[in-house]
Amino acid sequence: MSRVAYVNGRYLPHGGAMVHIEDRGYQFSDGVYEVCEVRGGRLVDERRHVARLERSLTELRIRLPMSIAALGVVLRETIARNRVRDGIVYLQVTRGVARRDHAFPSSDVVPAIVVTARSLDIAGNERTAEEGIAAITVPENRWDRVDIKAVALLPNVLAKQAARERGAKEAWFVDRDGFVTEGSSTNAWIVVGNTVVTRPADRGILRGITRTVLVDAIAAEGLTLDERPFTVAEALAALEAFSTAASLLVMPIVRIDDQPIGNGAPGLVASALRRHFHRFAEFS
Ligand code: PDD
Repeated sequence: MSRVAYVNGRYLPHGGAMVHIEDRGYQFSDGVYEVCEVRGGRLVDERRHVARLERSLTELRIRLPMSIAALGVVLRETIARNRVRDGIVYLQVTRGVARRDHAFPSSDVVPAIVVTARSLDIAGNERTAEEGIAAITVPENRWDRVDIKAVALLPNVLAKQAARERGAKEAWFVDRDGFVTEGSSTNAWIVVGNTVVTRPADRGILRGITRTVLVDAIAAEGLTLDERPFTVAEALAALEAFSTAASLLVMPIVRIDDQPIGNGAPGLVASALRRHFHRFAEFS
């Protein structure tokens, strides 16, 4: 089936969908993005993703080139035109097209928007979650505004590639003090006793939407949440470890730097949180 992309007001065949060579996203990574899960043809946590998009845009002083209501229509139309029932919708807004100059272009330059959607192999993801994935650790080398969901992801790209080359699926960044910040495209968690530990979202990480929803799920499971930084040594000694993201949900981490976590298999907490996650998400 042919895929369709929304590009600046038009739905185009995916293969031929283009942006201008002087799009500031292309030249400067001057833009932001969101990835939202689609389940049963519906958007998962659209409200929270749109709120985070607005925050990212505000922080970078880029304006959304359409109303929130219109954006909702475009997201749904892109999902429908690509016949996605279970998958993700990707949305990117850049500062627009202008002659290359580092400072902002004049205010009449219209920000550029692209939306794509694709199906995910849900059964395959479940099988992966039943086995768990391996992670490596890499030194944190990103800028200090990782709370903004910017398309500038070069350290994340290199970290993920390093993971792949070492037979792992995720890389956890570790700051100078030895504390885990987050994964290259996920938030990082460990389970210690009855307590689920994750870094506070004020600095040093992206405030994941999956993370936010999971806070409710943790309370409902009768678990304690401790929002504090944790070290790699603590993670290696933990009962369980897992990563979260809209595209992966709750993904058990069963090895870190080639050392097994717990008994080396997905733990009860991560598995339960994964199973119950959608009870706490918003569908629209
Ligand atoms: N990644 N941290 C980073 C660095 C991320 O890139 C992501 C999401 C998350 C989790 O956020 P959320 O729960 O809102 O998906 C945390 C997306 C999925 C991506 O880049 O593909």
